[in-house]
Amino acid sequence: MITKSADAAIAAIQSGEKFVIYNGDCRTLLKALPPRSVALALSSPPYFLGKAFDVSRELDGFSNLHREIFPYLQSVLEESGNLGWQVGHHIRNGVCTPLDFVVHEIFGASASWRLRNRIVWTFGHGTHAKNRFSGRHETVLWYSGAQSYHFDLDATRVPQKYRGKKFYKGPRKGEWSSNPAGKNPGDVWDIPNVKANHVEKTEHPCQFPVALAQRLVRALCRPDGLVFDPFAGVASTGVAAAIEGRAFLGAEVDKRYCEVSEQRWQAVLSETVRIRPIDKPVFQPDPRSAVARDPYTSSAQGDYI
Ligand SMILES: C[S@@+](CC[C@H](N)C(=O)[O-])C[C@H]1O[C@@H](n2cnc3c(N)ncnc32)[C@H](O)[C@@H]1O
Repeated sequence: MITKSADAAIAAIQSGEKFVIYNGDCRTLLKALPPRSVALALSSPPYFLGKAFDVSRELDGFSNLHREIFPYLQSVLEESGNLGWQVGHHIRNGVCTPLDFVVHEIFGASASWRLRNRIVWTFGHGTHAKNRFSGRHETVLWYSGAQSYHFDLDATRVPQKYRGKKFYKGPRKGEWSSNPAGKNPGDVWDIPNVKANHVEKTEHPCQFPVALAQRLVRALCRPDGLVFDPFAGVASTGVAAAIEGRAFLGAEVDKRYCEVSEQRWQAVLSETVRIRPIDKPVFQPDPRSAVARDPYTSSAQGDYI
């Protein structure tokens, strides 16, 4: 459901609704949310979207917004809750500012919160820079409370690279050496970004892929916990939460994005939602295909990679 009332959004979640979008400013919702009611807050905050309501068109606005909301995020998160914050870079006059530097200056200064991982999200496509290397990564900062936190590594394991490897000495010599449940996915994640021909693309200019959120939901949200995205956009976090069976509460100022979110939720319910599966490998072109061949030498890319 979509509602313009923060109280109605909270009441809906409390009465068991699984997907609720508050069409308004997240600061209103954050102030109204009960303490310790969110298991995972996962978001990509607005930066330089150029919209009228965007307070983060300059770095000062971006950091002020974070200073303002962080105390509320801390208060609404459960004792064992987690906070995942996905950001890119600010480029102005050829100068690059990684936005996670700005975020960490604020979130990392808290005595009661700890940075657990700085995940590098890498992707193959984007704008082509002329005077510096083209940007092909963004980051997710994962924070949790200092005392305890939920982390389900087994829910996120990926296939081992050398499944058939065995111990070659010691008491377990001859036994399989790798965990049959798969390996830790590490902190560098190669997931295609949502460009024009991506199956998840909507009219939103800066969606993140559902798979990115899905891995974080699996690892960082207890199975019956609430996932909250204060800057929901078209609810990619919400789609991930729904697929993973968690309840979702989002805030989004733009009515049109709320409507798209609701459509995506209905598509989850009817099992027609368009997503790129989390375990689908990144596409590698066939080196013999016409587009992969070097038209000048007629050699295949595969000749030198
Ligand atoms: C980077 S986008 C999030 C995209 C989202 N991760 C997705 O995949 O759809 C940030 C969103 O925050 C929204 N926004 C900006 N300021 C807001 C505020 N104060 N409260 C709620 N939403 C806000 C913008 O409209 C924008 O859609």
